[in-house]
Amino acid sequence: MPLLELQQINTFYGPVQVHFDLSLVVEQGQIVCLLGGNASGKSTTMKIILGLLKPHNGSVHFDGQEITGLPTPQLVRRGIGSVPESRRLFPAMTVRENLLMGAFSRTDRANVQNDYDHVLQLFPKLRERLEQRAGTLSGGEQQMVAMARALMGRPRLLCMDEPTMGLSPLYVDRVLELIQTINRQGVTVFMVEQNANLALQIAHYGYVLQTGSIALHGPARELLRNPQIRDAYLGGV
Ligand SMILES: Nc1ncnc2c1ncn2[C@@H]1O[C@H](COP(=O)(O)OP(=O)(O)OP(=O)(O)O)[C@@H](O)[C@H]1O
Ligand SMILES: [Mg+2]
Repeated sequence: MPLLELQQINTFYGPVQVHFDLSLVVEQGQIVCLLGGNASGKSTTMKIILGLLKPHNGSVHFDGQEITGLPTPQLVRRGIGSVPESRRLFPAMTVRENLLMGAFSRTDRANVQNDYDHVLQLFPKLRERLEQRAGTLSGGEQQMVAMARALMGRPRLLCMDEPTMGLSPLYVDRVLELIQTINRQGVTVFMVEQNANLALQIAHYGYVLQTGSIALHGPARELLRNPQIRDAYLGGV
């Protein structure tokens, strides 16, 4: 059974249809990336999974249970974590406070301290920034906080929209490495990425969204070799 399954999703913003029978699956333990051009509906797919938007019809299943349209806090409790596109930190709060907000829905308080220690091991740079207000961090540092905060919710599935957007090359590499590390520690990852080449290098499987439905999908290694993908998304190299 896949960890996440979208079946025949149709989504509208008012009269404008964005998804046309969109279907995809995310297998447990994998890194799956969703590629696609601007305005193809990638972020809208994230909103559907995270319960921020209801599809007109179609279904979302997580771990075998239908979750279509459930409110986001319920999805967090079930194990879906997210790093939203704009990172959406609480800018006036410190890094420490932002991290602890990631555990807001948890009742297993005893484990929260362990997870806090664990994320600081994963993101040692944040240790030096714990008392700094999040809004004053660099873009790369804010991305680290957003990832660490999502992990504080102990997600089984981590959803990330454009995790490398706006980051310097050094941070891009660092973030991709961290995604792999997090995945090896047992977290399934579903990510939207503009940088198809980099995303496919760390992903197990990829989907290509074109005007709201899946045009192409396959193991990441095959997509990297696929001439259609190379022309459209990898700069033809
Ligand atoms: N809140 C909204 N109201 C109306 N239309 C919207 C809204 N959000 C997105 N859209 C439209 O839906 C389409 C898909 O948008 P979406 O943000 O999902 O694309 P995307 O693939 O993430 O694009 P990008 O690569 O630019 O991030 C776009 O045409 C966009 O203008
Ligand atoms: Mg987007």
